[in-house]
Amino acid sequence: MLVRRTEPPASAAVTITVDGRDVRARKGESVAAAVLAAGIVPTRLAPVSGAPRAPYCLMGSCYECLMTVDDRANVQACMTPVKDGMRVRTHASRPSLRHG
Ligand code: FES
Repeated sequence: MLVRRTEPPASAAVTITVDGRDVRARKGESVAAAVLAAGIVPTRLAPVSGAPRAPYCLMGSCYECLMTVDDRANVQACMTPVKDGMRVRTHASRPSLRHG
């Protein structure tokens, strides 16, 4: 689990909502970084096995970080900077394709 070592000062902070929870983030950081720093994992479940997944590469290559941002589905959260008031939904609560 990732832990933010220092909270951003008020002048450098924004607040986003992740799955209905207020999360304080640092201006300029990515949505994925803010979500991980808030300890929100998993961010999705593998569609077949149901295995927990989370942002991995943080540089736009793996697509493990797809989230819904301000009603736009499948946004690469690691390539999206936070903005004050942004609404983020992880895909962790989506139904899986798993049978039985
Ligand atoms: S974490 Fe790999 S593409 Fe976003």
